[in-house]
Amino acid sequence: MPMPTEVHYHDYLQLDKILNAQSLESEKHNLVAHDEMLFIVIHQAYELWFKQLHHEADSVVAIMSKPALNDNSPELQTVVHRLSRCVTILRVLVHQIDIMETMTPMDFLDFRDMLRPASGFQSWQFKELEAKLGLKFEHRHGKEYYTAQLRPEQVEIIKKAEGSQSLLQLLNSWLERMPFLKEGADNSFWDNYKKIYGGSLADAEKNNQSAFEEIFSDGGDTVLNRDTTITRSLSPAACRAALFIMLYRGYPLLQLPFQLLNCLLEIDEQLSSWRYRHMNMVHRMIGTRIGTGGSTGKDYLKAAAEKHYIFREIAQLNSFLIERRKLPALPAEIEKHLGFGLL
Ligand code: HEM
Repeated sequence: MPMPTEVHYHDYLQLDKILNAQSLESEKHNLVAHDEMLFIVIHQAYELWFKQLHHEADSVVAIMSKPALNDNSPELQTVVHRLSRCVTILRVLVHQIDIMETMTPMDFLDFRDMLRPASGFQSWQFKELEAKLGLKFEHRHGKEYYTAQLRPEQVEIIKKAEGSQSLLQLLNSWLERMPFLKEGADNSFWDNYKKIYGGSLADAEKNNQSAFEEIFSDGGDTVLNRDTTITRSLSPAACRAALFIMLYRGYPLLQLPFQLLNCLLEIDEQLSSWRYRHMNMVHRMIGTRIGTGGSTGKDYLKAAAEKHYIFREIAQLNSFLIERRKLPALPAEIEKHLGFGLL
């Protein structure tokens, strides 16, 4: 059998390609712009991390797309582990802005005009990631702007992601399959919970009682969906399951599901931190000038940051928690299922 050729660090990492992939526009114009190298390297580093985020997200989507994700198997642990890795990567991406900010506005002006109309807005990997996680086209800020700035083949990639089952949709199906509250329990559990919750509200919060009905009662979501600007992704059954997980997360069987929900909230929070830091950096760098991609710059980024929370419906459920000491005791049958099996 022929010996496999020895792997060499340089070839394995294809450093020839990566280290020769920085071609400065300023050099092409015979001008000096020292910081353009930093600008290119940092964007390339981001794109590589986006690639890794896709790798993780794809694997999580593949596991969660199975007809029945087995919560009592290593699969759920793998999902949580990989989503936690995404969170860690996103934290690094937020901090990378520190490096970008070592470039001053005057340093940027040395080469900024040579970049037009290129813009981070054309990062199709970023847009595709948002879509894979669950950002719907109709919920995007500046929809037409987004399709107009990308090449047709890149729009195709994002449309494909928008048309596929997103992590948010798969989460909904997984939550709907959660068996515990179907086993005879039960409307009486939720009726009781609703009463305790209602009793915990301050006068100024009494509207939450009807919101409770709309979010958790079957058929209640049609009330919310009457407002065509708000299409909910999580069904009442899924919301009940998620709230149940949050409330009873101490039980062994609910610990991983709780971590999964927590990871999704953390992903949203880190993405949002990135958006705000990026927006502030843009403000500091170009003030109120328009972006190289032609958007209103800071104003566009601010609106997108406010609108593009992907897992906001999970965060919203935290409005419906009650104090731990007031939690209704679970029916014995359910409690048995949530613990470690007795030998
Ligand atoms: C000097 C540094 C930077 C400036 C002045 C800047 C400026 C802008 C502006 C003005 C926009 C809005 C679109 C436009 O009109 O161009 C934008 C979008 C964007 N930028 Fe940057 N950017 C910088 C660095 C970065 C870096 C390092 C990344 C990393 C990948 C990045 C990624 C993005 C992304 C993904 C968008 C689209 C955001 C969305 O649509 O929600 N930018 N940038």
